[in-house]
Amino acid sequence: MGEGYVMPRLGSTANPLRTAVLISGGGSGLAALLEHQNSNPCSHSTVLVISDSREAGGLAHGRAAGVKSIGIPIPQGPSGRREHEEKIQKELESEDIELVVLSGYMRILTPEFVSAWKGRLVNIHPSLLPDFPGAHAHRDALAAGATVSGCTVHLVDEGVDSGRILEQREVPVLSGDTEADLQERIKAVEHKLYPLALDRLSTGSYSP
Ligand code: GRF
Repeated sequence: MGEGYVMPRLGSTANPLRTAVLISGGGSGLAALLEHQNSNPCSHSTVLVISDSREAGGLAHGRAAGVKSIGIPIPQGPSGRREHEEKIQKELESEDIELVVLSGYMRILTPEFVSAWKGRLVNIHPSLLPDFPGAHAHRDALAAGATVSGCTVHLVDEGVDSGRILEQREVPVLSGDTEADLQERIKAVEHKLYPLALDRLSTGSYSP
């Protein structure tokens, strides 16, 4: 597939891919990934957690696992977004990161950042893409009357939730579901699917 993706090197249990996880909130997906990495022989290892808020609850999951976990808030001012990504990039470089995992990270990354990591930058989105991209997937799925939703692990490209799809799983929408009900049901599936996709990505299961 020639879409400008440069995939990561092959990881191994002896030499796992050095992974950074970017979060914005509670980090239940991060917690599930850390649990997976700590309880299985794994070809990827989280060595850095970055949040765009120092208050993000998920930072505690990283710290509890002994992983360097830092909040980098977006600087004020017109060039705040660029400066923010420069700070993140500096941390990624200083920790020799090889794979960047977005797990509930709520900012759109600039094309410059994406192009530096394309193929080694992964996201999970709580819908069956290309349906319901963007920040309100559950609300949009319910408003559309969908009877099935799900989650998608994809490589990140310059668009919004538009990169190459690696894995998808369906999750039923039940009558009377609230956004919170659907979110929780989908998260339970995400917590298995993302580690699986990262196992596959780090061992070369996806063609370049
Ligand atoms: C997940 O549902 C993910 O798909 C979406 O944000 C949620 C993150 O939840 N992008 P958490 O912070 O991991 O609990």
